[in-house]
Amino acid sequence: MDQNGDNVMSEKNKTAHGEETYSNYFSTPFYATTIDSWTDKLNKTCQPWLDDAHNTYKKEAPERKSDFGFVYHSRDISTDPYLHFFTTWVLNTATNLLSGWGADLSNYTVMFESMWVQEFPKDGGGHHRIHIHENCHVSGFFFLQNDNASYPLFHDPRPGTAMTALPEKNENNLTSFTKTINYQPKPGACYMFPSYFPHEYVVSKGGNFRFIHWNITAVQNKHIGAGFGI
Ligand SMILES: [Fe+2]
Repeated sequence: MDQNGDNVMSEKNKTAHGEETYSNYFSTPFYATTIDSWTDKLNKTCQPWLDDAHNTYKKEAPERKSDFGFVYHSRDISTDPYLHFFTTWVLNTATNLLSGWGADLSNYTVMFESMWVQEFPKDGGGHHRIHIHENCHVSGFFFLQNDNASYPLFHDPRPGTAMTALPEKNENNLTSFTKTINYQPKPGACYMFPSYFPHEYVVSKGGNFRFIHWNITAVQNKHIGAGFGI
C-alpha cells in the first residue's frame, strides 16, 4: 500500500493554504474480547494439567517451603480433546485476524506452535520478563483466574523508538510516544496480538492468577502439504 492507498490510516484537514494529512503507518493490531461463559469449563479442563505441573515442582524439591517467584507451566494442551471447542475457536479467530490485518493466507495453513496453561504462585513473585514469540504470527491469552495479582504489559514493538524516546506529556494518553500499554484482565478476558509484540507480566502480589497462553504460526502449504489443518 502506498501513501495514496485507500486503507492508509490518515486524517485530512482543510487549511488556509490547502490540505494537510496526518497519517499513522505500521500500527500494531490488538484484539480483545470477553467470553465469561467459558471460564468455568476451561478452569475445570485445565486443572489436571496444572496439577501435573504442581506435582513436578514438588518432586523436584520437596523441601521447598514456598513457591515464591515460580510459575507453574503445563505441558502442551493444544491437542487436549476436551479443549477442542476452544482450540478450534482460537485457530479460527487467529485466521480471521491475520486475514483482517491484510495477510494473504491462500497458500498457508494456520496451526498451533504451542498452547499451555499457567498459574502464578499463591505466594507471589510470579512474573514473565519481556519477550516475543519467534517464528510465530499470532499470540494470545485467555484469563481463567485473577485476584488482581498481576497483569500483562505490552511494549512498543518498534526498535527505533527506544533510541529516540522522549518524555511523555501524559502517560495515560495513547500517543506516538507511548512506551507501554497494559490491560487489567478479569476471568473470561481474551487477547490476541501479533507475536512480534513484546510483552511481559509484572511481578505478582500473590493470590490466584491463571491463564492460557498460545502461539500460532502460519506455515506455507508447500512445506506441509495442502489440505492439512484449517
Ligand atoms: Fe508470551
